Amino acid sequence: MPNLAVIPGDGIGPEVVAEALKVLDAVEHAFRPGIRIERFPYGADHYLATGVTLPAEQMRRLGTDFDAILVGALGDPRVPRNEHARDILLGMRFQLDLYVNERPARLFDERLTPLKGKRVDDIDLVIFRENTEGLYVSVGGTFKEGTADEITIAEELNTRRGVERIVRYAFEWARAHEKRHVTMADKANAIPAHALWRRVFEQVGSEYAEVQRETRYVDAMAMDLVRTPEQFQVIVTGNLFGDILSDLASILVGGLGLAPSANRHPGRVAMFEPVHGSAPPLAGKDVANPMAAILSLGMMLDTLGHGSAAATIERATRSAIEEGMTTPDLGGNKGTRAVGDWIAERVRRV
Ligand code: NAD
Ligand code: IPM
Ligand code: MN
Repeated sequence: MPNLAVIPGDGIGPEVVAEALKVLDAVEHAFRPGIRIERFPYGADHYLATGVTLPAEQMRRLGTDFDAILVGALGDPRVPRNEHARDILLGMRFQLDLYVNERPARLFDERLTPLKGKRVDDIDLVIFRENTEGLYVSVGGTFKEGTADEITIAEELNTRRGVERIVRYAFEWARAHEKRHVTMADKANAIPAHALWRRVFEQVGSEYAEVQRETRYVDAMAMDLVRTPEQFQVIVTGNLFGDILSDLASILVGGLGLAPSANRHPGRVAMFEPVHGSAPPLAGKDVANPMAAILSLGMMLDTLGHGSAAATIERATRSAIEEGMTTPDLGGNKGTRAVGDWIAERVRRV
């Protein structure tokens, strides 16, 4: 029986996770995967009340006792330095060593893209973001804080092992999904250390003769993602560039409200979450789009071996979009709960 840990988190996180769990309930009814759920209270409220972010013992349990983790979002204006979210979210990515951050962007409906003249087939890409290194490692520090002489340093960490494993994952994924093109984004023209990425990309990529490889500077890639998204199938890049490019890619297909993601390390627990954050201005208003959370649940079910349940969730989500059962971010006038109810009902009836 698969064990699922659920961390709804902050802001709109609990609202969108509630809809994903409604859909999971419908999946239980229709497909009987028998998933056992345990909820965790970690987030800003819990941190502000107790000073606890995510206890080490619970982090250990997440790694050993669970098959998957479903997260809403973490981030709250009452925690100005975001330390609880760093401990919880980046804590899971780093400590569980979930080095693959998989962020697909597929256009479900032509009406959802802000790009002129792009068709459904033109935008179908996946970003593999390195998830455990880069500028996110908090190596560095601040000296003379708050004075005119303040100095702050943030080191970007790239290891041969870390770069190689994400690049290899991207090529393996391309091969398994019959994609013929992998593009790597770096900034090797300005940051000499990125030569490591180029070397590893060349060496690893040469083992995949059927897959074309291309390196791009990230600034030009950002432009081309908007100009000609059809040239991209699989993108592999570092932690910060992947963070930025994945928000950009999301708006090409309808926005953050539709963007799911997976945090993986083959053979270990995987964590699934919307790409979006806690969107504080939307919280508590029943307006947040639950589809990113619902599609993240789909990625989870697919990973747990329930591909037909995942496909059903995706079909139901596409139907909701076609029929205008959408929240305001997608042009509709439905609420978070109404969209979740509708998708859950579709799934239940298969
Ligand atoms: P955000 O993703 O919360 O919001 C960015 C924009 O997208 C806003 O205009 C928001 O209204 C819109 N949006 C996001 N999700 C939506 C949804 N489901 N439906 C409709 N519209 C949606 O990013 P932000 O405002 O930069 O960050 C807010 C907080 O969330 C910060 O504390 C940030 O650190 C945190 N954050 C957390 C995660 C995560 O938990 N994985 C990801 C990103 C940001
Ligand atoms: C994301 C978020 C996080 C990140 C923040 C909240 C630390 O933006 O999941 O994309 O930068 O990875
Ligand atoms: Mn982000």
